[in-house]
Amino acid sequence: MSVERTFAMIKPDAVGRGVSGDILSMIEKAGFRVVAMKKHHITQKQAEHFYAVHQERPFFSGLVKFMTEAPSVVMVLEKENAIQSWRDLMGATNPANAAEGTIRKKFATDIERNCLHGSDAPETAAQEIPFFFSTADLL
Ligand code: RTP
Ligand code: MG
Repeated sequence: MSVERTFAMIKPDAVGRGVSGDILSMIEKAGFRVVAMKKHHITQKQAEHFYAVHQERPFFSGLVKFMTEAPSVVMVLEKENAIQSWRDLMGATNPANAAEGTIRKKFATDIERNCLHGSDAPETAAQEIPFFFSTADLL
């Protein structure tokens, strides 16, 4: 497996509770290189586009409301097998099912306020990274 990039987000619940630094520390200890990072308050239009795959789901409007309530931290992470590796470190979507040692196990509140996002496939990463970062940010 070669070095890969993924898109990661520390969601508004975690940023608001002041645990971004703790999460970043776990990311760096796990061997990821932070290629790019910034604070970003996502707009309703941006959140609806970003989560368009879920637009028919019953939780969609609540998800958009949550994501727009306050700023997130958005990042591009690099590592061997970064996409799967970051999802492994995040843990299960529902923190009640998240394994020991994962970030969601440690910090997430519930299935919606679950602290983190990560790309789920190379095609998703290839769409999500340029949604938030320009070529000049990614050198
Ligand atoms: P993400 O897309 O944010 O990285 O999370 P994921 O792959 O682990 O989960 P996904 O199924 O893609 O769901 C996207 C986000 O929607 C919220 N959600 N709420 N109330 C609910 O039942 C529910 N289910 C999902 C979560 O914030 C989840 O991360
Ligand atoms: Mg997802």
